[in-house]
Amino acid sequence: MARLHDPLVLGPITLKNRVVMAPMTRSRNDDAGCPTDIMATYYAQRASAGLIISEATCVSEMAKGYSRIPGLHSPQQVAAWRKVVEAVHAKGGKIFAQLFHTGRVAVPQLLPGGAQPVAPSAIAIKGKNYTDFGPIEYVVPRALEIGEIPGVAAEFGHAALNALAAGFDGVELHAASGYLIHQFLDPTINTRSDAYGGSVANRSRFLLDALDSMIAAAGAARVGIKVSPRIKFNDVAEPDAEEVYPHLARELSARQIAYLHVAQQGPYEAHANMRPLFKGAYFAGAGFDKASGEAMLASGAADAIVFGKWFVSNPDLPRRFADGLPLAEGSSKTHYSKGPEGYIDYPPA
Ligand SMILES: Cc1cc2nc3c(=O)[nH]c(=O)nc-3n(C[C@H](O)[C@H](O)[C@H](O)COP(=O)(O)O)c2cc1C
Repeated sequence: MARLHDPLVLGPITLKNRVVMAPMTRSRNDDAGCPTDIMATYYAQRASAGLIISEATCVSEMAKGYSRIPGLHSPQQVAAWRKVVEAVHAKGGKIFAQLFHTGRVAVPQLLPGGAQPVAPSAIAIKGKNYTDFGPIEYVVPRALEIGEIPGVAAEFGHAALNALAAGFDGVELHAASGYLIHQFLDPTINTRSDAYGGSVANRSRFLLDALDSMIAAAGAARVGIKVSPRIKFNDVAEPDAEEVYPHLARELSARQIAYLHVAQQGPYEAHANMRPLFKGAYFAGAGFDKASGEAMLASGAADAIVFGKWFVSNPDLPRRFADGLPLAEGSSKTHYSKGPEGYIDYPPA
């Protein structure tokens, strides 16, 4: 019966415990998408996690959907990330880079030359994106031409190569939270009538193309993926999640990737439906504490537990769990603010 503090072997990588730090956007990068020095401190403070998954990182300039998020598409970004990765490794930690493209979540003010964002179909998100230039109404995106799609999928492979060059232990495909990959899965967002729309297999094609380009770059043993079925975010609806996610679990299982990370945040029993179909390491996330995480591992329903908000305010979370120490509550006011406050000033117990 596995416990939170037991190691977990993921092919060539051994996690020292099963307390995984969730990918979390913290908006402390510079305007060129380069990680800053306080980020090396922040991640190194959390190196006792069995695995750190980095904040979502852009695969290209067109992927950028928020102010002060990082990229892995320029040599400067690779060099800046190397400092973060080295700081984590120096503390004995392991870190994967989460790779994403925000698709229609982007706004022209964040894109090169004020470009129109791209998406599977020309359907806008309702509401506003809160940028450093103020709140900006989402725009109608441009539907990607079918001939452009292989190039966008290949950007995930290029970014994976860059991640390895920066020293990351592996990469995670961000197929969650209503960003570009997730936009293709959802028939209320993807109304295409070509090979990338319509059937469940067609809507899953872009995800698998992007994943396969990451596998070609890094090897399956260093590639993971995150999904969040029916999450209430970015206008995700997914009326047919019951068909999409079992299909994906089978396709992902066949690829023998490092892990499948599922954040169960919407009205769909993702863990019960996906875990039995996926033969590799299964990471369960969203809403866990020590007791529910231990229970999940003990029942065999997951191999590792992913913790988000608790890692914001408890840099030494694995030790607090192991020693039964109280957890510090954090403030969401500084989640996306600038500078060290609410970022590197949460002390260990
Ligand atoms: C400040 C913040 C930023 C987040 N940014 C990301 C992100 O970049 N990528 C991602 O996949 N999920 C992101 N999430 C979602 C978390 O990875 C996680 O799924 C969610 O917080 C639920 O887990 P928890 O209840 O343990 O916090 C973010 C969550 C928070 C609180």
